[in-house]
Amino acid sequence: MTTGTFKLGILVSGRGSNLQAIIDAIEHGELNARIAVVLSNKSRAPALGRAQKHGIDTAFMDPKKFSGKEEFDRALARELKNREVDLVCLAGYMRILSPAFIEQFENQIINIHPSLLPAFPGLDAQQQAIDYGVKFSGCTVHFVNEEVDAGAVILQAVVPVHDDDTADSLAERILIQEHLIYPRAIQMIVENQLHIENRKIICKESDSR
Ligand code: GRF
Repeated sequence: MTTGTFKLGILVSGRGSNLQAIIDAIEHGELNARIAVVLSNKSRAPALGRAQKHGIDTAFMDPKKFSGKEEFDRALARELKNREVDLVCLAGYMRILSPAFIEQFENQIINIHPSLLPAFPGLDAQQQAIDYGVKFSGCTVHFVNEEVDAGAVILQAVVPVHDDDTADSLAERILIQEHLIYPRAIQMIVENQLHIENRKIICKESDSR
């Protein structure tokens, strides 16, 4: 696998299609980074197999082995610190990170969410969009802070919502865009293009927006 020196730690819980998009972008030379580790809180997450197939280090962290959420998050942070990761990418990670974790990685945690935030944060974002009746939805890459899906927005992509969409058909359309903007957002961070003013992110390179 082609690698850069910028180290990513990726947290997953499930399918891992965004992880795959990141792996592919690295292998195609579009993302100049390397994945130091993929950590999952689910032993059966297909994402683990995807990483292993590409020779990437993985670990299953079992929440049941820790006395509580903070204890678990501290162990997770230790794994990432030990590998000196530069950026933590949440890719379908289904646990809310505690302040104990977040304060150790200031402006170093990003997430992808399947809606145009601040609309439809939390679970079932695609169903929320359909129920609300919006004509457009999409996805957002954002920094992670202590509020769920509320950190500064890095990149967004818009998709139409069709009258006959189900949550699944909309999710499929959004996912295509997720796979494009997540690696792109990471590359912008690798290239140090982002400048944060309050909660607004200015990209230094206007053509990479
Ligand atoms: C994606 O829709 C992402 O936006 C959300 O969780 C889903 C993860 O899918 N945070 P995958 O595991 O990357 O395939």
